[in-house]
Amino acid sequence: MSFLTRRALSKIRNLHDVERLARRKLPRPIFGYIDHVAEDGRTQRANLTAFDAYSFLPKAFVNVSQIDLQAELYGKRYAVPFGIAPMGISSLSAYQGDLVLARAAAVRNLPMIMSGSSLVPMEEVAKVEGADWFQAYLPGTPEGIEALIERIKRAGFKKLVVTLDYPVPPNPDNLRRSGFSSPLEPSLRLAFDGLIRPDWLCNTFLRTLWKHGMPHFENNHAERGAPVISRKAARDFSGRRHFDWSYLDLVRRLWPDTLIVKGILNPNDAVRAHRAGVDGIILSNHGGRQLDSTISPLQVLPEVKHRISNIPIMIDSGFRRGTDVIKALALGADFVFVGRPFNYAAACAGQAGVEHVADLLQREIERDMALLGLTSLSQLDPSCLYQPTINGLEQPLVNAVPVAEEVNS
Ligand SMILES: Cc1cc2nc3c(=O)[nH]c(=O)nc-3n(C[C@H](O)[C@H](O)[C@H](O)COP(=O)(O)O)c2cc1C
Repeated sequence: MSFLTRRALSKIRNLHDVERLARRKLPRPIFGYIDHVAEDGRTQRANLTAFDAYSFLPKAFVNVSQIDLQAELYGKRYAVPFGIAPMGISSLSAYQGDLVLARAAAVRNLPMIMSGSSLVPMEEVAKVEGADWFQAYLPGTPEGIEALIERIKRAGFKKLVVTLDYPVPPNPDNLRRSGFSSPLEPSLRLAFDGLIRPDWLCNTFLRTLWKHGMPHFENNHAERGAPVISRKAARDFSGRRHFDWSYLDLVRRLWPDTLIVKGILNPNDAVRAHRAGVDGIILSNHGGRQLDSTISPLQVLPEVKHRISNIPIMIDSGFRRGTDVIKALALGADFVFVGRPFNYAAACAGQAGVEHVADLLQREIERDMALLGLTSLSQLDPSCLYQPTINGLEQPLVNAVPVAEEVNS
């Protein structure tokens, strides 16, 4: 590991640090793209305050010398109950970003969902051991969907994640302010932003151009898409307004392996997807990047779990601490996905950075479990949590403590 990588790692002590470091390391438009939140950031704030609604009820004097964090999902035992969420164009922020994320995930034995809006051909990522999750934004026609699914099958992916919360692109006002656009529009400002980040310019951008040519959207369709600077690239993000549930039924008929939908918040939609025969649901508001003023997935989790019990219910959006992950698992989530921090880590310190961030989150969860007096994820349930207020009304603590634990006899 190089001296510079070691120095970067020494500055990352939690998942917030990596964002601060990436802000200094990446050109403004590229950081702006990753950091982006829709409009006035209300959804993003909802994601954070949803965690605040719960406090822990730790148990004292429990032997916590052995803590098991392994989690099983679709027949595979992962080392931790979290994975890497799909993130488009991550090879603009880190050299061959999709491969970096996939290799780090393989080393740490956690799932990484490859984004369909990516710049490395899916066939290359599929060669990485354990890389068998692929996320798709569906092409606009049944023929296009069928052809893409054939390609995903041929590449060897076994889990298909279809993202549903993107009928139209989000408001680009904040992206524009940061200098980012899709397609990327070459300008003096963009060149200046790149030039003042020489490390990124040489080790990510110029290295990519030198070794692979201008990055293209490789995986939105069965065939290679447009270069990131071409006006035609906009086509990859449009033409989805007409989608309805019949398209999910079509995907279910075409895809024989594990099918997961991502971007569901409405419990009625979760039930509809379940009826379509999906094998899992990722509750998500896209990390606050799509519709502003949206409910947080943590808020809908208990209701969705109440209605659907026989497929994994996973979750993402705003998870930054071990305590966040534990709260979701206690409320019934089967798995948690984390986005931006892994992208920033790849940009700041490559594969070692992604592994480092995974280790930090794993250690936080382990430490928090010990402080909670728990030794296995299977012990997590709503009784570990106390909700100080519900709908603004203060709750008596006594409701949160199981009756069986009372000692008044
Ligand atoms: C830079 C970036 C690109 C993303 N691209 C995709 C994508 O291609 N497909 C998708 O389903 N979600 C995409 N997402 C959403 C993530 O999968 C995930 O829902 C979100 O990042 C989770 O929130 P977090 O970043 O706060 O952890 C993207 C998110 C980011 C930050």
